Amino acid sequence: MDQSGSLDYQIIQKSVPTFYFVGVTTRQSSIIDIFPLWMEALGRPEIIMEGVDHALHDQRQAYRQTVAQIKNDPLSLGGLITAHKIDILEAAGDMFDVLHPSAEITGEISCVSKRNGMLIGHAKDPLTSGMSLDAMLGEGYFGRMGGEVLIFGAGGSGKAICLHFIHKEDLGDRPKRIVVVNRSKPRLDQLQLMVENLNTDINFEYICNEDPKHNDEIMAGLAEGSVVINATGLGKDRPGSPITDKGLFPRKGIAWEINYRGELDFWYQAIAQVSPRNLTVEDGWLYFLHGWTQHIAEVLHLEITSDIFSRLSEIAEELRPSLVPQPRPGASGSMK
Ligand SMILES: NC(=O)c1ccc[n+]([C@@H]2O[C@H](COP(=O)([O-])OP(=O)(O)OC[C@H]3O[C@@H](n4cnc5c(N)ncnc54)[C@H](OP(=O)(O)O)[C@@H]3O)[C@@H](O)[C@H]2O)c1
Repeated sequence: MDQSGSLDYQIIQKSVPTFYFVGVTTRQSSIIDIFPLWMEALGRPEIIMEGVDHALHDQRQAYRQTVAQIKNDPLSLGGLITAHKIDILEAAGDMFDVLHPSAEITGEISCVSKRNGMLIGHAKDPLTSGMSLDAMLGEGYFGRMGGEVLIFGAGGSGKAICLHFIHKEDLGDRPKRIVVVNRSKPRLDQLQLMVENLNTDINFEYICNEDPKHNDEIMAGLAEGSVVINATGLGKDRPGSPITDKGLFPRKGIAWEINYRGELDFWYQAIAQVSPRNLTVEDGWLYFLHGWTQHIAEVLHLEITSDIFSRLSEIAEELRPSLVPQPRPGASGSMK
């Protein structure tokens, strides 16, 4: 038997409510220290976080075991998945009672929760990357600035960012053109397929390239006020940047490095152009905060009001200095 699963899996009956963090090296993440402080602040100090590390592209049965534990143990409340979002849906999608449309459209599960005895899978990146972009751009950015969007990386985050813009109702919140650059073709094709199945007036361009010099040329062709996003993981997961030090960011534009820790080469390249190009530079800290708080909200059935978000941000900020790189002189996490 391999449906609701309990006979084929080892289910541990937890003695305390448990929130799972499914990743690769979960113990190294700052959320391990932040989570207990947040639970205290939310009045739920009894909830603990448990990291579950899987090898990248782990065995199907290993992913199913993780999902079965959450599904079958009453005190296993749910959790956040990173790095295995596509693999978990592929390996264990049938174990979920409900897949939110976000999971269906993106082909990923980042959030596992339970409601009325049902196991639910969501993909939260379109929401949480979107919350970060909304804070960064403000209302009607493209109506005011007229820029375009260039995204390096057609993975989970790149796809989520595209969805966010496609779903924007007001014309002024949608760029006229989005250029997506990815080093290999399959992810680019998947993204193109997703976009073509949706109704959008945004003009998409897909470029398969990993030569930073060519990326500089692509970036040089953008209109003033454009938004350039590094969603490749270069500068954290692997060394480097999608562009060279000579690449020129769009004047009066915005550069967003979606990570907040690591070497962050792209972020430093952008910081160097703050005054000469009148560039605004952001990192991924806000994305991290929105990501975690929205997953916690779903699993614990809470609403994160702006007051609660501010309080949780303040708490996390105290643990931030060890996470962010020391800015070069004159730089800060969010700069114009
Ligand atoms: N701040 C936060 O809270 C937050 C939230 C989400 C993600 N992130 C971070 O954002 C990064 C991306 O996440 P993800 O989930 O989108 O990862 P992902 O699914 O692995 O996507 C990364 C994409 O970048 C592409 N790529 C790699 N090098 C490239 C290059 N030189 N030029 C163009 N494309 C390149 C990869 O191409 P291939 O298809 O060829 O592999 C892949 O499609 C990770 O480092 C992640 O940790 C941060």
